[in-house]
Amino acid sequence: MEQLKVTGGILCVGGSPRAGGNSDILIRHFLKGAREVNITAEEVQIRDYQFQTCTACERCRKDKSCTGLLDDMQFIYPKFSGAQGLILVSPVYNYNITALMKSFIDRLYCYYNFDDERPGKWSSQLQNQGRKAVIAAVAEQISSEDSGIELALKAMRLPLEALGYEIIAELPVSGVFQKGRILKYPEVLSSAESLGKQLGNSLKNLK
Ligand SMILES: Cc1cc2nc3c(=O)[nH]c(=O)nc-3n(C[C@H](O)[C@H](O)[C@H](O)COP(=O)(O)O)c2cc1C
Repeated sequence: MEQLKVTGGILCVGGSPRAGGNSDILIRHFLKGAREVNITAEEVQIRDYQFQTCTACERCRKDKSCTGLLDDMQFIYPKFSGAQGLILVSPVYNYNITALMKSFIDRLYCYYNFDDERPGKWSSQLQNQGRKAVIAAVAEQISSEDSGIELALKAMRLPLEALGYEIIAELPVSGVFQKGRILKYPEVLSSAESLGKQLGNSLKNLK
């Protein structure tokens, strides 16, 4: 069984299928900020890994790790559980997070402890470990109603909170469509850098 030991650092997970797009640029700035305060920060692009969505085999109820699907998530799990800080970045696709980000989040199901009552009670193997997260979403439309950005943020916030993360900040980025458009908004990039620093510093304060 995988050891759920927090080794520190930040994992930044990107959910865009488009390489070199706005989410990727945002991630570069989150990482820059974190590294400026001397925190180890690693990037995982979900699109670079081959894995299935959760099939509800429920083997993790007993095994306490994902033993039902031995795919590339096995490379991500140790990075994920080892990092005390987490940054999730997703473009908004159809008023929500991307299918990549959703599949990734669903595969975190193995970190829960479930009991057999129905409706089921649960706890997280990751709770009370001082885990902290920042979430960000990138959308074309300006108004929240038109873009769905609030729903996308909520779709990341709720599962992370359920897993035991404190969300220390959320960054909604609206009005960017073309690849690289976000570069026209230096204030957004500097917010990402500041949040990378803030997350890094908040982890240091835990020591
Ligand atoms: C399939 C698809 C669905 C999209 N749906 C939305 C949407 O519902 N709301 C919105 O504001 N933008 C939507 N967009 C625009 C993207 O959010 C926008 O282009 C974003 O900058 C992409 O981020 P990326 O460059 O990191 O991939 C959609 C784009 C695609 C390709």
